[in-house]
Amino acid sequence: MDAPGDSHDGLLQPLPGDPSETVRGPRSIVLVVDDDAGVRASFRLILEDEYDVLEARDGVQALEVLRADPVDLVLLDVRLPGMDGLQVLARIRALDERLDVILVTAVKTVKTAVAAMKLGALDYLTKPFDQEEVLPLIRRAIEKRTLEREVVALRSELARRQGADALVGQSPGMRKVFQVIEQVARITATVLITGESGTGKELIARAIHRQSPRRDRPFVAVNPAAIAETLLESELFGHERGAFTGAYQRKLGKFELAQGGTLFLDEIATLRAEAQAKLLRALQEREIERVGGTRSIKMDVRIIAATNADLRKAIAAGAFRGDLYYRLNVVPLVAPPLRERPGDVPLLVTHFIRRYSREFNKPVTAVSPEAQAALEEYGWPGNVRELQNVIERSVALVGGPVIQLRDLPLDLMLPDHGSRARETESLSLQEACERFERQILLRVLERAGWNHTEAARLLGVHRNTLQQKVAKWSLRRPGSEP
Ligand SMILES: Nc1ncnc2c1ncn2[C@@H]1O[C@H](COP(=O)(O)OP(=O)(O)OP(=O)(O)O)[C@@H](O)[C@H]1O
Ligand SMILES: [Mg+2]
Repeated sequence: MDAPGDSHDGLLQPLPGDPSETVRGPRSIVLVVDDDAGVRASFRLILEDEYDVLEARDGVQALEVLRADPVDLVLLDVRLPGMDGLQVLARIRALDERLDVILVTAVKTVKTAVAAMKLGALDYLTKPFDQEEVLPLIRRAIEKRTLEREVVALRSELARRQGADALVGQSPGMRKVFQVIEQVARITATVLITGESGTGKELIARAIHRQSPRRDRPFVAVNPAAIAETLLESELFGHERGAFTGAYQRKLGKFELAQGGTLFLDEIATLRAEAQAKLLRALQEREIERVGGTRSIKMDVRIIAATNADLRKAIAAGAFRGDLYYRLNVVPLVAPPLRERPGDVPLLVTHFIRRYSREFNKPVTAVSPEAQAALEEYGWPGNVRELQNVIERSVALVGGPVIQLRDLPLDLMLPDHGSRARETESLSLQEACERFERQILLRVLERAGWNHTEAARLLGVHRNTLQQKVAKWSLRRPGSEP
């Protein structure tokens, strides 16, 4: 069996070259807090080749910057006018527990050192400093932050290598999808993915993120349909402590959690009017405000939205804002339904057999030609998700190495398959009986190798009766000509 990740599933997804070679990811930001303009200037001189440098004169200004910009590291003078460095450090900790702070001090006293450690400063610098001393220290601190981020990215990379994230397909429809993914990954333009349920919209969004220069930053998915309406704004934009009853802690919203990375807004059509207005503002201004907050926070987030609804219809019906639609629909991407790309079915079948045989540790390797034909003829109203479920179940239940027709769910063998076959609730008794009869017939026919005489014998009916029913329901061996 192939090594995980080294997959031959007909993955036509172009191998992600190293985008960092061509496109640079966002640079890390260092905030220098010192009341001495000369000190700030010399830090800037040392750092500016590698980092974006922001400056603050005192603690108040520092906290203002921190609320507005995604700072990665703070260089904090201990002796500051107003709030001293240790007080500022405590405030920074309250604001962001994980932000690293390096204290800068003229005299390295044990007392200050102890206090700083208690407050969680990462390290110390003593003035006067030189470039040789400063740069390695800062590089280490930034590397640590980058590493923490990479751990997150590696986890999702691991999932991908295990095949869970692979986007499989080689039909013209999917080739087009891969092409758009590749083009759009390089830029930060907003993408709107539309397509029926189960067509792989979320997988596509992840693929875009993975191939973009942001791939070491977070991919954050949010599904408004799964969040209580009253909590939605806070989920998206975060809230300040005390913003509303129950807001005991400051909380970062999905936007802020995705800072520098990608935010996937799923099922966008379910957003209510108020949330649509807030989202529109965030997209226009490229900044957000936490609930109960007083300041705007700059956002560097790539947005990918998805929906299985027809947004144009929703706009016509007054349920979705046209201006928001145009903001989101910068690059439209359509995930084609599986019935329009039957050529992908065999690839997907192989892909999922490999995945689930590994997962269940069962030596399942293939489907029989008849089962394959039934899978290819089926209409897949639930798209790839439905196919995935069928294969998962079949691999779990099959006795031998090959999945047979009888191991597949019966629905797949019915001639009027597809969406209509799903509406079992509204069947009359007669219809239900007929359906049951049809399924029994199919099973027996399969067992009898589609020999009508043998099938009639097994069922205890006359051959003519059997043939009447076969004709009535146009039953035929999967894969044979109608
Ligand atoms: N081209 C594909 N290759 C491999 N797996 C796929 C593909 N498309 C979809 N899948 C799998 O099918 C399932 C459904 O995909 P996904 O969740 O991305 O669909 P969706 O379009 O977001 O559906 P919904 O609208 O219901 O949320 C997932 O388990 C996904 O891994
Ligand atoms: Mg989805």
